[in-house]
Amino acid sequence: MAGLFSRFFKLGSQNMAIDLGTANTLVYVQDRGIVLNEPSVVAIETLNGVKKVKAVGDDAKMMMGKTPDNIEAIRPLRDGVIADIEIAEEMIKHFIRKVHGKKNLFRYPEIVICVPSGSTSVERRAIRDAASNAGASQVFLILEPMAAAIGADMPVTEPVGSMVVDIGGGTTEVAVLSLRGLAYTTSVRVGGDKMDESIVSYVRRHHNLLIGDATAERIKKEYGIAVMPADGVGELIQIKGRDLVNGVPKEITISQANVAEALAEPIGAIVEGVRIALENTAPELAADIVDQGIVLTGGGALIQGLDDYLREETGLPVSVAEDPLSCVALGTGRAMEDPIYRGVLMSA
Ligand SMILES: Nc1ncnc2c1ncn2[C@@H]1O[C@H](COP(=O)(O)OP(=O)(O)OP(=O)(O)O)[C@@H](O)[C@H]1O
Ligand SMILES: [Mg+2]
Repeated sequence: MAGLFSRFFKLGSQNMAIDLGTANTLVYVQDRGIVLNEPSVVAIETLNGVKKVKAVGDDAKMMMGKTPDNIEAIRPLRDGVIADIEIAEEMIKHFIRKVHGKKNLFRYPEIVICVPSGSTSVERRAIRDAASNAGASQVFLILEPMAAAIGADMPVTEPVGSMVVDIGGGTTEVAVLSLRGLAYTTSVRVGGDKMDESIVSYVRRHHNLLIGDATAERIKKEYGIAVMPADGVGELIQIKGRDLVNGVPKEITISQANVAEALAEPIGAIVEGVRIALENTAPELAADIVDQGIVLTGGGALIQGLDDYLREETGLPVSVAEDPLSCVALGTGRAMEDPIYRGVLMSA
């Protein structure tokens, strides 16, 4: 392992670290940092029965929910694992090419890519193969919560227990880390996507209005809140969608309190995951967590008041990482660059 690891330092600047997320893919290039951050979406066009990639990333996400019959916007990762391996591979290839530029097309890098802690060996092999087929000369894997913790500057190399909660698009990973390893980990299949779905179904149930996922995501990002607003109402939100009774487009107003109500279930599931992890943590490590607290990473960490809510529910110190959406990519990059993290990379 040490031999493999030291090769990173000799090969120089083209090596990459990839956070292949359900919602977003970030690419970190050695010595340069994060150079790409785009949605994990691919638009596929079918012409005379032949499928072709029409757009990837930002361009493809803009098409979601608005495509004509012959174009399909696909998210190749679901619930934190690869749901469509061929399209995932196309997406990785596209991003690698974009980062390298045409001039470097023939210089293949070594790649470190993160995988969910709960992924099976078959899923891990699929991710590794996709990166190999995309042109990587060698692929290393890192567990996502470990990467998140490194990216959030947590003391993962020390004999001190700390807890990271990474709330992504597809999954929430809860992990206790100590001495470069995961002492305990659990993964809940609830994240930003489930929150969007909860908003869609809330609006449908209470207002007979059908809204798209993109609209729900916008509402969540702008007004999402983990607890009832102080005045019991909060801000008022105008939303447009299709009336389910007469089929025409319509605009309604809901309150931020309604959003809190809609998000209660997915957020409750996340809190439950944290509780289970705490119950299963060895006493010495649990004692450390009382001092070190819990760090939140991933896009879901940005939900207003989630840290306060978790603090109230667990009685532990809770903080949000400085840049929650970048933690996993930063941590994957640092694990590639810094020998102090030797041992967290896996070769398969
Ligand atoms: N300000 C915000 N408030 C609430 N949610 C947000 C905010 N910004 C982004 N999100 C949500 O965070 C999620 C994406 O987070 P992230 O990029 O960490 O996920 P991912 O790494 O792609 O997913 P996974 O780790 O599950 O594979 C999306 O569901 C997005 O809507
Ligand atoms: Mg993630």
